[in-house]
Amino acid sequence: MAGTGSSFATLSCVLALALLLAATAAEKETHLRVFWHDVVSGGPNVSTVAQVAEGPSSSASATGFGTVTVIDDPLTDGPNLTSSSSTLVGRAQGVYVSAGRDSLSLMMAMNFVFVDGAYNGSSLAILGANPADRKVREMPVVGGTGAFRFARGYCQATTRWFDANTGDATVEYNLYVRHD
Ligand SMILES: *[C@@H]1O[C@H](CO)[C@@H](O)[C@H](O)[C@H]1NC(C)=O
Ligand SMILES: *[C@@H]1O[C@H](CO)[C@@H](O)[C@H](O)[C@H]1NC(C)=O
Ligand SMILES: *[C@@H]1O[C@H](CO)[C@@H](O)[C@H](O)[C@H]1NC(C)=O
Repeated sequence: MAGTGSSFATLSCVLALALLLAATAAEKETHLRVFWHDVVSGGPNVSTVAQVAEGPSSSASATGFGTVTVIDDPLTDGPNLTSSSSTLVGRAQGVYVSAGRDSLSLMMAMNFVFVDGAYNGSSLAILGANPADRKVREMPVVGGTGAFRFARGYCQATTRWFDANTGDATVEYNLYVRHD
């Protein structure tokens, strides 16, 4: 009797372990690195950034509180947008809102829409606070489509280059996502 009981317990353990492994194997974890480019210079035909609203002058502040900006920014695999060693892998489409009254904080709501490589046709949705003057900003990845169905995770943004005269910027995004 004792022997039957313990072999049943062993079998249960093996089954539970197998189920756990199957569940783990079904979920992937992907690390992606892309470079995000705000292109403000070059005039309206070239710019990938459109400021569509700003706060009333009474709320005007050094943080630009109330400003709403729409972007369709190129995402490349290398840091330099114009270098031939960088390939366009997607677009960052969405908005950022200056949501901090007293400190610089952008509320980012954007989709990374991939147009090349293994993730062509797939997308990731990012929604979070971006205190842009900090070295590293962490934002949630809240979902995805295609290869990234059921995605969740986070990303870390680091400004790599900023031209104070034009407002052009390059930001490195490292994304860590779990998905189906
Ligand atoms: C922008 O594009 C339009 C339409 O192609 C063209 O007529 C116009 O000259 C361009 N403007 C500049 C500044 O390049
Ligand atoms: C990017 O590459 C281009 C062409 O190679 C070069 O002219 C430019 O200075 C580079 N930009 C930066 C920010 O390194
Ligand atoms: C990406 O996918 C689109 C739509 O399926 C296709 O037309 C395009 O050629 C693909 N691009 C690359 C670089 O594979």
